[in-house]
Amino acid sequence: MGTEEQTETGGVATASETLTITDNRTGKTYEVPLEDGTIRATALRDIKVKESDFGVMSYDPAFMNTASCRSAVTYLDGEAGVLEYRGYPIEQLAEHSTYLEVAYLLVHGELPNAKQLEEWTNKITTHTFVHENVKSFIQGFRYDAHPMGMLLASVGALSTFYPDANQIKDPEIRYLQIIRLIAKMPTLAAFAYRHNMGQPYVYPDNELDYPGNFLSMLFKMSELKYEPDPRLSRALDILFILHADHEQNCSTSAVRAVGSSQVDPYSAVAAGVAALYGPLHGGANEQVLRMLRRIERKENIPDFIAGVKEGKERLMGFGHRVYKNHDPRATIIKKACDDVFEVTGVNPLLEIAIELEKIALEDEYFVKRKLYPNVDFYSGLIYEALHMPVGMFTVLFAIPRTSGWISQWLEMIDDKEQKIARPRQIYTGERNRDYIPVSQR
Ligand code: ACO
Repeated sequence: MGTEEQTETGGVATASETLTITDNRTGKTYEVPLEDGTIRATALRDIKVKESDFGVMSYDPAFMNTASCRSAVTYLDGEAGVLEYRGYPIEQLAEHSTYLEVAYLLVHGELPNAKQLEEWTNKITTHTFVHENVKSFIQGFRYDAHPMGMLLASVGALSTFYPDANQIKDPEIRYLQIIRLIAKMPTLAAFAYRHNMGQPYVYPDNELDYPGNFLSMLFKMSELKYEPDPRLSRALDILFILHADHEQNCSTSAVRAVGSSQVDPYSAVAAGVAALYGPLHGGANEQVLRMLRRIERKENIPDFIAGVKEGKERLMGFGHRVYKNHDPRATIIKKACDDVFEVTGVNPLLEIAIELEKIALEDEYFVKRKLYPNVDFYSGLIYEALHMPVGMFTVLFAIPRTSGWISQWLEMIDDKEQKIARPRQIYTGERNRDYIPVSQR
């Protein structure tokens, strides 16, 4: 550590933990504090040619190198392929934990003891029912409405059922919304699915565990009680664990940005669902299945790969903004695939997926760009084996990601440094134009 000194930009920093910036326009030198390998972008505002200047800004489209918050929820090291929730490695959680326990961990920061887990499970289980009006609301969608669109609208609509949810500063009230969100997402998702199928909605079965109840709401027909296959329930639970959080990704950033306006958490989560819907984010697993079906046979793979390399399309389920080595979730999913196929029989598309992965991992185009299978490459195959239509794939991502979104939202609400999200811009348009009446244009 060096000596403490007052910097031009106002901060106090030690000499060894600062960045010296010379403005070549003025010859002036500024010393900017470095904290956690980061400078505050606002420190650049002091760098001016004349006093009336706005000051220097940083330009970072797509937030390639900008930390938007401090967070203690999820640790991710893209180079090393490490993912931890609250410090616990994803591999251990996927092997030993359940999704509901992981949701507790994300929300509270610690693993629950037996009593806390029982209480939490009980609370979530008893909040799975939705208001009867939600049913008629979903009924209003077209028969072929995309289930993700229905989920997006219906989770946003929950705010109208719980108007006190906008009291986000009240810890008790907001805790209740957290419980409701985690509890009701599977119900909304299942209702969307049944609507597509033209089948009657199935109410939650509170005797079943979280994934089992979801399977029951999806697939129960005339039987008195739906008995989910424990192996399929467990595979679904593992997928839920793997998808629960992934730090500041597109949808989480959307939840934080929208939530920063202090809107209720249902509306903020609806923003997350909307972001996840996109094909470059959660929508990728749906696109992977469509891609595999289009390839159809192993013999067609070389032509397909050639098209990808020519830039005609992307190899969906490959590549990641952060993971540039391997996606640890993809490895766990591949193993879960084997367990599911033991019950359901092998999906013929798996053969194409494995061959595609093999070729892509050896091909210079993909190796050079550090493109590896991501979480979506194999998850779609499991979902299909569970008889989910492709439209439901992203919905199956949104259900568990809700616990991550809401944990990050909670962290933001209590973060004294956060304000309403409001990026700056570099204006590139015209200036000072005089209005010309339409008759003279
Ligand atoms: N197939 C072919 N080429 C690719 C792919 C891909 N899947 N992904 C990236 N590339 C290429 C790009 O064309 C680019 O090549 P260039 O340097 O010759 O122009 C290079 O690799 C870098 O790509 P970027 O788009 O700059 O990488 P970025 O970090 O912005 O994108 C993303 C990451 C969006 C995930 C991208 O890899 C992609 O589109 N993948 C397919 C969609 C997908 O699977 N998304 C799921 C992500 S995981 C999740 O959301 C849960």
